[in-house]
Amino acid sequence: MGDNGDSRALWPSQRGLDNLQRGRQMDISQALEDITPYDPVKAPHGIITSPSAADNELVPELLEKYAQRFGRTYQLKDALGYGSVAGPEAMLKAVSQFINRKFEPVRPIKHKDILTTNGVTSLIDMVAYNICDSGEGIMLPTPTYSMYEHDLCARSGLKVIPVSVCPVEDQFRSEGCSKMIAAFSEAYDKAVESGIVVKAVLICNPNNPVGRFYSRKSLTEIARFCGKHRLHLISDEIFAMSGFESTDRNGGKLDNFTSVLSIPEDKESGVFTENIHSLYGASKDFAMGGLRLGFLITRNKQLWQTCRRIALFTWLTSFSTAFFTWFISNDKFVDEYLNTFQRRLKQAYLKTSEAMDKHGIPYLQANGGFFIFIDLSGWLQYFEGTDGPQQDGKQSREEQLCRYMIKKGVYAIMGELSMSTEPGRFRFVYTGRGNEAVIAVGRIANALKELHYSEKESGDTSTCNSELSKADKISVGKLTSRFSRALQKFNCI
Ligand SMILES: Cc1ncc(COP(=O)(O)O)c(C=O)c1O
Repeated sequence: MGDNGDSRALWPSQRGLDNLQRGRQMDISQALEDITPYDPVKAPHGIITSPSAADNELVPELLEKYAQRFGRTYQLKDALGYGSVAGPEAMLKAVSQFINRKFEPVRPIKHKDILTTNGVTSLIDMVAYNICDSGEGIMLPTPTYSMYEHDLCARSGLKVIPVSVCPVEDQFRSEGCSKMIAAFSEAYDKAVESGIVVKAVLICNPNNPVGRFYSRKSLTEIARFCGKHRLHLISDEIFAMSGFESTDRNGGKLDNFTSVLSIPEDKESGVFTENIHSLYGASKDFAMGGLRLGFLITRNKQLWQTCRRIALFTWLTSFSTAFFTWFISNDKFVDEYLNTFQRRLKQAYLKTSEAMDKHGIPYLQANGGFFIFIDLSGWLQYFEGTDGPQQDGKQSREEQLCRYMIKKGVYAIMGELSMSTEPGRFRFVYTGRGNEAVIAVGRIANALKELHYSEKESGDTSTCNSELSKADKISVGKLTSRFSRALQKFNCI
């Protein structure tokens, strides 16, 4: 153990310290906080970080309207008393009605099937804790939400078993089912051979970072796989309503949202609704991340009870539940909101993907969530080194490209952090404010062009570090030193 900087200060626990090795994405985001953020008027050269943050900035005036109306009915003093620990009955009833309207569950969800925590992040930790004992395993098809590893392992001490499906679309399309299940079986067998007791599969639907929904057939096959091996199936459906009709490059219709709650029982395959759980929340579809509300929807009484027992650690705040109960109980507001949001989501996607097409940035068609998975593998050639997360402290080529783009004023999350096995992929969020997404695409395109042209000028194909310094001189301007300072911090991580 090294010096903690103050010999009088006692060390945290080993498990606490182990967590410092996880959550690289949080470290990177913190390092970038020192850089002036982009503002079209005050800081037009500032860094655009919205491509990295899954925030929903598409509906500010509607949120303002609901907040104003609620404010007229609510006494702030009511927020000061302790409220319900895991959701007042009125809210749970309204949420169950919402789920019954929009998720098409195989049988109606009752308010007693729901437990609320302060956000889905807490819920992931809570469910992992109550499904797995320390050292047991949970399977995750990859690429996946970049915080799962942290959220699942930080306190529960379980093991993540990534399942890589190649090409990535085969995870979602009916046509790719047999390939996907083969990848699941292989990963499961390997984990069991290495002595891991596997307890669950966690999927993210629509997938973050790919922006695609699972077809009903894919979900049914995953449920059967879980049934065969007696595993829980957990589906993080936090972006359930963030979707729109769209097609792939061949004109084929992309799948829309199907909840795992709609999967019927299939006794012969061991599929029981008690072992299939959905996670939902207010942060994404409803752009209300500040309320900190996450909903576990489970038909498994024992799981519900074990979660309820530790819900004191994720106690809700009175204000959040009062506001959300008021909002979600009003079908008219909810439908007005979702219609507007989904229309704007599609528009934002079309605008951003058109900009990508115009600039020749390859990407996978998406119709769910707030993101597009872009493919910058063609530009890795300008960097030296190897691919995949590095064990030796060196940066992968993908990380070097990420750092280079930060210097050029854009931060998008590396595929590596989402356990993507295809180097050079980045998650690009297009639901930022105003025209930020399109400006960010332009900045990425210019940065990539500079890489290409600076190599041509020098006639040197061997290294990017020299190219970088040449390219940097071209247009980084005043903010370079600030970016560099942040990058140095990022370097130390
Ligand atoms: C797939 C997914 N699950 C969960 C979360 C966390 O949500 P919450 O704000 O409810 O903690 C996020 C946040 O980005 C997410 O993308």
